[in-house]
Amino acid sequence: MALLTILRYPDPRLHTVAQPVAAVDDRIRQLVDDMLETMYAAEGVGLAATQVDVHERVIVMDTSETRDKPLVLINPEIVARSEDLSVNEEGCLSVPAIYDKVRRHARVAVRALGRDGQVFEREAAGLTAVCIQHEMDHLLGKVFVEYLSPFKRDRIKSRLLKRSREEKSPA
Ligand code: NI
Repeated sequence: MALLTILRYPDPRLHTVAQPVAAVDDRIRQLVDDMLETMYAAEGVGLAATQVDVHERVIVMDTSETRDKPLVLINPEIVARSEDLSVNEEGCLSVPAIYDKVRRHARVAVRALGRDGQVFEREAAGLTAVCIQHEMDHLLGKVFVEYLSPFKRDRIKSRLLKRSREEKSPA
C-alpha cells in the first residue's frame, strides 16, 4: 500500500476525462487499495482516480460514520436519478478547506464493477448520493467549484494558488 499525492485545484490535470478500465486486474486492485489508504489518511469521504493523476474510471468512497464500509466503483454509470434535487454543502480533497453549496439529484442508482470485478447496482440517498455524483464529476474532469459563480470560483482559485506559493517558499 502507498499514499498517493492528491492534485489540488486549479491543477489543469484535474480537468482530464478518465478512460474506462479495461480489466479489473492486479494493477487496478493496487490502485483501489492505495486510493482507499490515501482517502482514509486524508479523512475524506470520497476520492476519484483523477485526483491522484490516474485517468481511469475508478472511485473509492466511505460515507459511514465508522469509516469501515469502503465502496469501490469501477466504470460507474448512473442508471436512475430522482427528479427532486437537494442542496448540500460540499468539500473536496483537491480543494482543501473550501466548502460551498451544490444542488444535485437527491437520489441516484449507480451500476459499477466492484474491486472483485463483479457488476453490481446500488441505490443511494443523502451523503452517499452526493458523493457518487461529486466523484463521477471528477472522472469527467469537473471539480465542484465549477458549479459556483465565476466570481466565487476565481476567489477560490487565487486563494489556493496563494496558499500553495506560501507552502513552497521557505518561511
Ligand atoms: Ni472532490
